[in-house]
Amino acid sequence: MTTHRAFPFAAAAISLALSVAPAAAADPASTDPVTRGAYVFAAAGCLGCHTDEKNKGAPLTGARALETPFGVFYTPNITPDPQYGIGAWTEGDFIRALREGVGPGDKSLFPAFPFTSYARMTDGDIKDLFAYLKAQAPVDRPNRPHELGAPYGWRFLLPGWRFMFHIVDKPVPDNPSKPAEWNRGRYIVDALAHCGECHTQRGPLGAMDPARYLSGNPQGPEGDAVPALTRRAKNFSQWSLGDVETYLEMGMDPEGDFAGGAMAEVIRNSTSKLTKADRRAIAVYLKDLPAGR
Ligand code: HEC
Ligand code: HEC
Repeated sequence: MTTHRAFPFAAAAISLALSVAPAAAADPASTDPVTRGAYVFAAAGCLGCHTDEKNKGAPLTGARALETPFGVFYTPNITPDPQYGIGAWTEGDFIRALREGVGPGDKSLFPAFPFTSYARMTDGDIKDLFAYLKAQAPVDRPNRPHELGAPYGWRFLLPGWRFMFHIVDKPVPDNPSKPAEWNRGRYIVDALAHCGECHTQRGPLGAMDPARYLSGNPQGPEGDAVPALTRRAKNFSQWSLGDVETYLEMGMDPEGDFAGGAMAEVIRNSTSKLTKADRRAIAVYLKDLPAGR
């Protein structure tokens, strides 16, 4: 992929590298749930979708527009505000939302919220993430309703959708024939960082097509094509492990071009904030993918 749209990001990456201390504490090995949760929060990329950066919205107050073939979703406020955010949610409510796509009061959530991936997170990671969100400042910004065409905006159809498409709703056991690093990589790719939500093509009802797992997506966010990450991928199959790590850390590909569009945001908010070992684990897992479609 050759694009220079994300050049300001490159400058940001350099200034980040020069700054003395990392800003907020995020450490997967900490004894403090909030500090561990900060790491899960970054890896899972919650910030980007739930912040209307374009209109200078405060972090996690939502209202970011997500344009999809079904209409425009406006993300909700997920600060701990009791009225407009998740301040009144219990830990159990939060676990159910991520695993099942159902909020308090049995409110079905649209899969534009990628619970189909987050459902694979461990209980420990979900609880840490909840502790982190609860530790943020509440902001009383009201939510903006989605603008969806019929029948896509009908929440009462969602239980049927889940029945058909939400098959994996708990962590996938490790594959014992693969090293721990590979299994960690798969967990980050599939559960936390939800790479397939963009890199896997969707069927007509918006579910990721398992037969096309990470095989690229002609209709990604903002209508951009998303490249394949499988062995059949013309471009990516030529990348070394180190190439993948560098790209996920700074956004630079082997030709010296910088990631653009939605991927620049994923790198900025998520993969650049991971530990070196976790970026390595992602690379090891991706480089072992089968041919794909
Ligand atoms: C791809 C964009 C996207 C990402 C990434 C994302 N969300 Fe969301 N989220 C949404 C959308 C869209 C909704 C609204 C769904 C609906 O209205 O049914 C939502 C809804 C929610 C809700 C329900 C809020 C309510 O008031 O009903 C919670 C809680 C939530 N998200 C938390 C998170 C957390 C935590 C993360 C990171 C682990 C995250 N989201 C990542 C798009 C996203
Ligand atoms: C929000 C959508 C989205 C998500 C989530 C996402 N990607 Fe991407 N990815 C893209 C887009 C769009 C591009 C093309 C970027 C460009 O045009 O420069 C891309 C490009 C890439 C490339 C470059 C491949 C090539 O051939 O140039 C790699 C590698 C990659 N992504 C890996 C990942 C990994 C690993 C994850 C999960 C940690 C991930 N992506 C999550 C949208 C996404």
